Amino acid sequence: MSRKQPIYEGKAKVLYEGTEPGTIIQYFKDDATAFNAQKRGTIAGKGVLNNMITEFVMTRLAEIGIPTHFIRRINMREQLCKKCEIVPIEVVVRNIVAGSMAKRLGLEEGERLPRPIVEFYYKDDALGDPLVSDEHILALGWASAEELEEIVGMTLRVNDYLCGLMRGIGIKLVDFKLEFGRVWEGDFMHLVLADEFSPDNCRLWDAVTNEKMDKDRFRRDLGGVEEAYQEVARRLGVLPESADIESLNKDK
Ligand code: TMP
Repeated sequence: MSRKQPIYEGKAKVLYEGTEPGTIIQYFKDDATAFNAQKRGTIAGKGVLNNMITEFVMTRLAEIGIPTHFIRRINMREQLCKKCEIVPIEVVVRNIVAGSMAKRLGLEEGERLPRPIVEFYYKDDALGDPLVSDEHILALGWASAEELEEIVGMTLRVNDYLCGLMRGIGIKLVDFKLEFGRVWEGDFMHLVLADEFSPDNCRLWDAVTNEKMDKDRFRRDLGGVEEAYQEVARRLGVLPESADIESLNKDK
């Protein structure tokens, strides 16, 4: 089967033109990178699991009224989404100190924050996605004040909802990263939650043992990476049937 040219190839996904106007297809790869692609590898079956997990999370969020770009899953590795113009900001929410926050501020990983912290990073690989403030975003025109207010509001709703959802399956939602996009309908624009939600872009710790169940296992060479992604999918009820596990390593 001939395949359309990719519109964009990222580190973990390839975007293709969609089958309907105003749509794109997200293809989830097994490739994994860390530290701004200085570390590279593959996590067998990751693309399939991240496709399933993202479908599940985006569907649940749409049910509580969060507008998302997700339309439907097409197959094991692909999903159809609304085409949008990505706001060049990575929005990170932290509930528990970990990762770059622990390092930057000399804090112990694992300290629970008295309230969630929202951080912004400017999406620019060449600059290593630098931490920026709302002042930078507004002054440099990456988003308007209205957009930023809506983005923060949606992000905090997503955080509250997903903290509860994860707690229900014995997982602490430590932190995560979201991206938003602009969808145009005639002269009107609205914001949608875009990209993905998967163990690639969040930290998930087992509620009892604090064991890491996310990409930190790859970043920090902790082993059991595939098993961790599978366990998250299993607890969410989206791990493909055992007969399909074989196909996790195939193309679709
Ligand atoms: P950090 O502690 O490294 O800043 O990461 C915070 C959260 O953001 C963590 O859940 C992982 C996610 N993240 C991404 O999704 N993409 C990135 O490029 C980085 C650096 C972090």
